[in-house]
Amino acid sequence: MRAAFFHATLCGGSMSGRKILVTSALPYANGAIHIGHLVEYIQTDVWVRFQKLRGENCRYFCADDTHGAAITISAKKKGVSEEEFIAEVREQHLADFSDFGIQFDNYGSTNSPETRHYCEEFWKALRKADLVVEREIEQLYDPTEGRFLADRFIKGTCPKCGKPDQYGDSCECGAVYAPTDLINPRSALSGATLELRKSRHLFVEIEKARDFLVHWIDASDALQPEVANYLKGQFLSNDLFPWDISRPAPYFGFEIPDFPGNYWYVWYDAPIGYVGSCAQWCKEHGQTAEDWWLDKNTDIHHFIGKDITYFHTLFWPTTLNAAGFNLPKKVHIHGFLTVDGEKMSKSKGTFILARSYLNHLDPSYLRYFFSSKTTGRVDDLDLNLEELELKVNADLVGVVVNLASRTAKFAHETGLSAEYPDDGGLFQEAASKSEEIAAAYEVCDYGKAIRTILECGYRANQYVEKMAPWTIKKELTKLQKDANASPEAIEATRRRLQDAATVGLNLFRQIAIYLAPILPDLAQKTEALLNTKINDWNDVQTPLVGAPVSEYVHMMARVSRDGINAMIEESKDTLPSENNEQGTTDGQGAGQWNDSAQPLLDEPLADTITIDDFMKVDLRVGRIIEAEQVKEARKLLRLKLSLGGTETRQVFAGIKAAYPEPEKLIGRLVVFVANLQPRQMKFGLSEGMIVAAGPGGPDVFVTSPDEGAVPGMRLH
Ligand code: MSP
Ligand code: ZN
Repeated sequence: MRAAFFHATLCGGSMSGRKILVTSALPYANGAIHIGHLVEYIQTDVWVRFQKLRGENCRYFCADDTHGAAITISAKKKGVSEEEFIAEVREQHLADFSDFGIQFDNYGSTNSPETRHYCEEFWKALRKADLVVEREIEQLYDPTEGRFLADRFIKGTCPKCGKPDQYGDSCECGAVYAPTDLINPRSALSGATLELRKSRHLFVEIEKARDFLVHWIDASDALQPEVANYLKGQFLSNDLFPWDISRPAPYFGFEIPDFPGNYWYVWYDAPIGYVGSCAQWCKEHGQTAEDWWLDKNTDIHHFIGKDITYFHTLFWPTTLNAAGFNLPKKVHIHGFLTVDGEKMSKSKGTFILARSYLNHLDPSYLRYFFSSKTTGRVDDLDLNLEELELKVNADLVGVVVNLASRTAKFAHETGLSAEYPDDGGLFQEAASKSEEIAAAYEVCDYGKAIRTILECGYRANQYVEKMAPWTIKKELTKLQKDANASPEAIEATRRRLQDAATVGLNLFRQIAIYLAPILPDLAQKTEALLNTKINDWNDVQTPLVGAPVSEYVHMMARVSRDGINAMIEESKDTLPSENNEQGTTDGQGAGQWNDSAQPLLDEPLADTITIDDFMKVDLRVGRIIEAEQVKEARKLLRLKLSLGGTETRQVFAGIKAAYPEPEKLIGRLVVFVANLQPRQMKFGLSEGMIVAAGPGGPDVFVTSPDEGAVPGMRLH
């Protein structure tokens, strides 16, 4: 029997014909998913799961953002075609998302026929609205690579402060400029000196859409207030720059039909990928993308990070508007992730890839932690790993899962009571929070939703504590063993135990339903425990009675400190390529020597460090005084270095293939890393490293200081 004495709230659901189309920004196909990205995909997934649980006709579309020069460069570096490259990255992205419980209705690619189709449709509309103009511009051209370069592939001396090695758009001194303003601009890809060349580009004159944009920003309620103010202050207070939307060949993308030899800039087709992905899904479901994008009953919700605000709030609405497509009902903009209060950093091991996280920790932890920090505002959010550990252990393990683990085993023996027992109003109280919690989810204030849910959890735990089913169980066992105990007394005690467990588990189930958008995994385990599906928000209104309970299976482990540490360690080794595309830096016109670009392509320059970072490494001149092959090791030579006086160090160096006659090394001066932690190897203690260049194998080149240096001298 199901007791249905609490009022149920009806949601709009599909009955009203309303449709909700949700997107996350399309991740670039030139790098792995990291925990910064996950801020967004988790936030969106929670929102979508919430809408679906409420019975809404809601679909979640995303895709890989596959076009642009960076993809070509990454593919080249790997020695594969762009198509092969993006196919491989796509597989990784899909695996990462799926393992974090992020459930798209369709995950497409911007490099798809559907996206191409809509690129052409929108293009016709932009042309028709007379928003496109052609102009000649001058740009820096890399003659070695045979292509015009984007700002981030250009380096040179700052025109303002004279600092060398600055990027094409801005300097460390704060100056912002055009790459053509750089002194001695060079290619970060090839090192070549750049030429100024003219080419013809197409521009979207977005200034012509000003009235529309101002109206949309003011009247639509689509933007958070701080975003609307930012746009008005930063962009709309001046003329809007025309948007350079074409790129000359070679470019990985779609060729512009009426401008042969030129391609749409990646940021033109990226948001159109939302429509392309939707169209793919529609094909499989007997619908068309127009059923969503032209139907006034569709609410479009974009979730993006603050860095891509202006593409989504100026260009994209202009494009949609030109084509008569629905404008976004809401652009939900979130802030950036910091770890322990700082930008994610590879050297600190806080640039954590989704995969590195998954190798060591339960994805539910991060879904919960991020959600607890999600407010619906644009502020950055911080991941403090100690805080994650405390929060998850206290809230999820200590409060939520604890409820189930302390009651389920008794209910497994007794089943749930046939009628919902008197619980002093606890179930009803939690049920009455339904709309308050839903309202918080709706505006992405998951932090508030969680606080309200946890309050229910605290009360429920107090109840279980007071009823102490484990004590009732002992009483029952004692009575059952007592030959003089009356059957009535045994039955009454059994009922008390069953009732206490029934209440505890029902209060737990309410919480599992409320948390289901955030913790789908916990919801699934709850379904298995209680043998009933969690697929309707309104189930929190109706207690479960008279049903069997499965054997309790552990639902969530405590966060392990070792897991966190191992993840950080692993992250120190993973260097995602996307942030590594810096180029050559020597100040001396590399072009004249014609040196190959390959070494830098193989191993791009590392992130900037401070002088203090560098000084941590104690580099010394050393003299090789012994050198011999290590018979049992394929790659190693054993070296003994003198640092002057009686100071010597033993080093095992992987240079055997390059120096087949080690005795020839004896007497040579080398550069030695003197303060590296010693490492015990099979053949003895290695007390440092000698500095050498090259990719490895026979191509290793030991470096030496110039004449005059003596052992023990420090390099700085
Ligand atoms: N390809 C573009 C988006 C095109 S949408 C039509 C892009 N890709 S991205 O891979 O760089 O970022 C994808 C999303 O993740 C963006 O919304 C971005 O703001 C977000 N984040 C990337 N790094 C992030 C953090 N460190 N913190 C929070 N969000 C971050 O931009
Ligand atoms: Zn400068």
